[in-house]
Amino acid sequence: MKKRRMFSMLFMSAALAASLTACGGSSEPASNGGGSSSPPANSGGSTPEPAKEPAKEPAKEAGADIQEMTIKISHVVAENTPKHQGALAMKKAIEEASGGKIKVQVFPNSSLFGDKDEYQNLVANNAQFIIPDMAKLVGNDPGFNIPSMPFLFSSDEAANAFWDGPKGQEIFKRLEKDGALGMGMWPNGPKHITNNKKPIKAPEDFNGLKFRTQGGQVLEKLYSTLSAGSVSIPFNELYTALQQGTVDGQENTFSNIESKKFDEVQKYMTIMGHTRVDYALLTNTKFWNSMNDATRKIVEEGVKVGTDFARSQAAELNAAALKKLQERGQIEINELSKEDIQKFRDFLKPVYDEYNPIIGEDVIKDAMSR
Ligand code: LMR
Repeated sequence: MKKRRMFSMLFMSAALAASLTACGGSSEPASNGGGSSSPPANSGGSTPEPAKEPAKEPAKEAGADIQEMTIKISHVVAENTPKHQGALAMKKAIEEASGGKIKVQVFPNSSLFGDKDEYQNLVANNAQFIIPDMAKLVGNDPGFNIPSMPFLFSSDEAANAFWDGPKGQEIFKRLEKDGALGMGMWPNGPKHITNNKKPIKAPEDFNGLKFRTQGGQVLEKLYSTLSAGSVSIPFNELYTALQQGTVDGQENTFSNIESKKFDEVQKYMTIMGHTRVDYALLTNTKFWNSMNDATRKIVEEGVKVGTDFARSQAAELNAAALKKLQERGQIEINELSKEDIQKFRDFLKPVYDEYNPIIGEDVIKDAMSR
């Protein structure tokens, strides 16, 4: 596995980490002006430099070119997650670099938009950034099924490298037809199975159970291969669905399971790591093209800072969340041996047989090489 980090760590610092604080947010409208339409920065760290000011233009007062505006970042998870922490890092970097001319409001916990309506509200410029789980974008492009392909990536770094690379970037680029721009991938990490019925240790244990998924045909196929049912439910309805027995179980990262207290309503967890939660940081063309070069440069730098920070936090927050789940002791935690995992890998091979041609053999090959 080749490890590759495309984003520089230049802007990350311990001071940044220490000073991050949670933020709610009112709903002031975004007020954007300007009118440059440089190409969007939708790659991992290699954002294009904005055009330079003509040499003979008189020097302007520092910050004079920066447009005053309010940027809204909407997402669906809790505060103690890599997504929210990355968004706060982005907020801090943008607000500081703009001398307060740009305000950033971060809306966690589906408090502005939820899974069902965040993409259309992004495209309508009612939010300037969203950070959906890629499984929620599979209707826009089958390439976003990649994190749902069983046991595909062996680490966050491998997933980062794929999405920073040419095949991942092509998938992001295909959102431009909708008016959305992919700014990069933020990992959360491997998903694990929870359920209320029985300890799951082998493929046969899934038989007849019903699971909630984030969405997408690959996850549907994965569960049907295991002789289980599945249904997609928005994240903000999941706790109640588990509590009321609408579904028997679900799959998620430790940080999502812990921060949403799913261990209150689930009896068993199996550490599987069979699929992943990886996010797409998205903006919209209307907002992006409304910024002048000086303003866009600040936002681009903020995106890099947020991306680096989210990437640096994901594994750590998941490890801390697992520890908390163990300490709370409310959910029985089952670990699988290498042999058990191999059984699942073999069992789930039909998912690859069906979806390799749909996602693209070249795309899967590239992802596997990371
Ligand atoms: C879920 O719906 O379970 C996750 O995708 C939520 C998230 O954004 O991490």
